[in-house]
Amino acid sequence: MTFQAPKGTFDWMPPRSERALAVRDALAGPVRRAGYGYIETPAFEDTGLFSRGVGESTDIVTKEMYTFLDKGGRSITLRPEGTASVMRAVIEHGLPGGPLPVKLWYSGSYYRYERAQKGRYRHFSQVGAEVIGAEDPALDAELIVLAMDGYAALGLTGVRLLLNSLGCAQCRPAYRSALQDFLRGLDLDEQTRQRIEINPLRVLDDKRPEVQAQLAGAPLVTDHLCAACKAYHEEVRALLTGSGVAFEDDPRLVRGLDYYTRTTFEFLHDGLGAQSAVGGGGRYDGLSEMIGGPPLPSVGWALGVDRTVLAMEAEGLFEAVPTTVEVFGVPLGEEARRVIFGLVADLRRAGISADMAFGGRGVKGAMKAADRSGARFALILGDRDLASGAVQLKELSTAEQTAVPLAEVVDTLKGKLS
Ligand code: HAM
Repeated sequence: MTFQAPKGTFDWMPPRSERALAVRDALAGPVRRAGYGYIETPAFEDTGLFSRGVGESTDIVTKEMYTFLDKGGRSITLRPEGTASVMRAVIEHGLPGGPLPVKLWYSGSYYRYERAQKGRYRHFSQVGAEVIGAEDPALDAELIVLAMDGYAALGLTGVRLLLNSLGCAQCRPAYRSALQDFLRGLDLDEQTRQRIEINPLRVLDDKRPEVQAQLAGAPLVTDHLCAACKAYHEEVRALLTGSGVAFEDDPRLVRGLDYYTRTTFEFLHDGLGAQSAVGGGGRYDGLSEMIGGPPLPSVGWALGVDRTVLAMEAEGLFEAVPTTVEVFGVPLGEEARRVIFGLVADLRRAGISADMAFGGRGVKGAMKAADRSGARFALILGDRDLASGAVQLKELSTAEQTAVPLAEVVDTLKGKLS
C-alpha cells in the first residue's frame, strides 16, 4: 500500500521549495526591519478561541475547521488563521499591562477544510503581522506599506490594493440594518435569506452573477460611517497616498472573518484566477473583548506564501534554478574520501556551501554529480595529489584547473567566491 498527501495538500519539493523559503523571507523582511518581534504560537488551540474570535457565522467556523476531541476530552482545533492566537497569547502573557502597542510578526501553517482548487489548499502558509493595543491610522497605513514593500522586494509588479472601512460599533449597526432592508427585498434562495439575518455583509461577497446583478444598488458602508470613522479612514488614505502606495477604494470589500472594524484591505494579483487574494487584513478593535480580554484596538494582516509563489510564477520571476552548493568534492579513492570529507566540513564551517560525491561512485559518476550540483568549483583529490599534499581545484564552467595545497583550500575558495 502507498500513500499520497491528503486531498487539498501538497509537498514543497526541491528545487521549487526554495521559492517558498524565499517568499517567506522577503515578506517578513520589512516588518522585521520595522522592529516587529517574532511570535510563535501552537498550531492548535481551544476550539472556543476561534468560534468566538473568528465568528460563529463565518464559513471558516461553520464549515472549515479541523476540530477534534483530544484524548483528554478537550475540543481542539487546528488553527485556521493566526490573529486570534496572537491576541490570546498577548492577553495570556499580560502584555496589555506594559508598553503599547505590541508589534508582532509570525509565519507558519494554517488549516482550513476548503474546497480544494489551484491556490486554495487545506494546508497553507502565511506570514502575518499584528499591532496590538493602539488606535492610530498611521499603524494601519504602516502595515499596508510594509506588505507592499514585501511584494515589491520579490519583484512583483501586479499586486493591487483594495481598501475599505467597515465602520465601528457605533455606526455599523445602522448600516447593517439598512443593508438588511435592501437585501430582504431581493430575489434570493433560502440559504442566502438566512445569511441576511445572521451576517448580511457576507451577502455582498456572493460571487454568483445572478446575486451580484441584484446588488448594484446596495447601500455602501462608506456612506454610513460616523464622523470618527470617516476621519480615521481619510487619514489612512492620505498616509498611503503620501507614501506613494496606490490603492482602489472598494466599498464592497468584505472579509471572511467577523472581527474586523474600520480599515479592511486585500492584496490581489490578477495572474491567479479565482483565488486572487495574495494577502489581506484590517483593524479588529473588538477582538480582545470577544475572547475575554481588555479593550485593545488592533490592526494586522496575513500574506499567503503559497499564493505569492504562484503570483511570482505567473509573472515569470524565478527563472534561474538556484544553485544548491558552491563547491563539490570529488574523491578518487578511500583515503581521498576521508580527506575530502574533512575539507567539505571545513568549507561549510567557513560559510561556503559545499557537497561531495557519496555512495562510492567511480570518477565518471562523481564528476557528473559535480556538474549536476550546479557548483562553480570542484575539488578533485587522487592518490598523486594526496602524496603532494594538494588538491585539484577545477572551475567547472571553464575546466580550468590548478593545484592548491590542502591547508590553503578554504582561504583560496573564500577569496574566489567573495
Ligand atoms: P485571510 O484573508 O483569511 O486573513 O488570509 C490571508 C491570506 O492567506 C489570503 O489572502 C491568502 O493569500 C492566504 N490564504 C487563506 N486561505 C488560504 C487557502 N485555503 N489556501 C491558500 N492560501 C490561503 C486572515 O487569515 C487574517 N488572520 C488576516 C489578519 C491578520 N487580519 C488581521 N490580522
